[in-house]
Amino acid sequence: MAIEQLNGTKDTAGSAKAAEDYLRIVDVRKEFDGFVAVEDTDLSIRKGEIFALLGGSGCGKSTLLRCLGGFETPTSGKIYLDGQLMNGLPPYERPINMMFQSYALFPHMTVEQNIAFGLKQDGMAKDAIRKRVEEMLALVQLGKLAKRKPHQLSGGQQQRVALARSLAKGPKLLLLDEPMGALDKKLRSQMQLELVNIIETSGVTCVMVTHDQEEAMTMATRIALMDSGRIRQVGTPDEIYESPTSRFAAEFIGSVNMFQGKVDEDKADYVTIVSPSLDAPIYVGHGISGFEGQDVSFGVRPEKVHISKEEPAQPYNKARGKIEDIAYFGSHSVFHVRLPSGFKFMANFANQQRWASEGMTWGDEVWVSWGDNEGVVLTS
Ligand SMILES: Nc1ncnc2c1ncn2[C@@H]1O[C@H](COP(=O)(O)OP(=O)(O)O)[C@@H](O)[C@H]1O
Ligand SMILES: [Mg+2]
Repeated sequence: MAIEQLNGTKDTAGSAKAAEDYLRIVDVRKEFDGFVAVEDTDLSIRKGEIFALLGGSGCGKSTLLRCLGGFETPTSGKIYLDGQLMNGLPPYERPINMMFQSYALFPHMTVEQNIAFGLKQDGMAKDAIRKRVEEMLALVQLGKLAKRKPHQLSGGQQQRVALARSLAKGPKLLLLDEPMGALDKKLRSQMQLELVNIIETSGVTCVMVTHDQEEAMTMATRIALMDSGRIRQVGTPDEIYESPTSRFAAEFIGSVNMFQGKVDEDKADYVTIVSPSLDAPIYVGHGISGFEGQDVSFGVRPEKVHISKEEPAQPYNKARGKIEDIAYFGSHSVFHVRLPSGFKFMANFANQQRWASEGMTWGDEVWVSWGDNEGVVLTS
């Protein structure tokens, strides 16, 4: 079926390695007048992936994306797509399409004329164009609105037209820079899923930029977390959330209770950490590559923390405090428990059960606790 040809690539070699390294970013660095926007970066992106560059404002995400598209020239390094060197090729000669946040639709053209534009410019035959535009309209489910002009469409529909236009020529790589930036919050979460659907159906490989961790977690197969021009961690949303390798990563994605402390006992199969924020020691049920006396951080996610009125039996991984705040999130509530040290502990509580029976409320003295393997020890 035509949908399978949408990304315009044939798996000639068929080698797993080629698919693994479909897009290769090798030692790419970008400076602006001596300012390093992107440090030497290596990244391999698989065919068909939706890969997110995630990070705060100014960390170099767009600059790296623009290097891929050919809108910026790397100061050094190489970019290969499907085995072909991209360096030196202007944007229009790359088998790459970038969808701009503003969509950049032609206001005087209908939906189908917008989608057909690039194909016409390429001198494609009329019949072929008509067929292709129909496929694209079906892909983004806008067949009924083909004759409308952009101003007669909602924001979400405009975005789908822009996407259809970006995919019409069957690019090998689709670039999205903050794709949801122009949409309001409610529409965003809906469009995130629609966009993923369309991209996956088309089979195109996609690199997107976002500063929104939820968006990256929802849309991406893998994420590169960036900070000050450097990639700090690459992994699936799950890996980055469950196994952050740095304090930065742990704090950027999701919420976390983060403690500063020192390694007290460093054994082969367990570690204890003392923190000025906690009276009881932290006990971690596995070894770490560290040493006694080392300064470390320990992070535990609110959903891994148990909250109770009864004191837990274990002598470690617990703290007593006072409920200061309860934030209701439908399926769960987040309790903010103030410890004597001043530390504000966040603990999630599923709303369907025990909430009613235990009846914990503002001002109550409670215990928070967590299991031996529920947190991460971070040394950077
Ligand atoms: N054309 C440019 N000239 C000079 N500095 C730039 C240029 N483009 C980006 N920068 C700088 O590079 C850094 C990274 O920018 P950018 O990649 O746009 O960040 P992000 O997309 O992560 O918000 C910023 O400090 C920005 O000011
Ligand atoms: Mg940007």
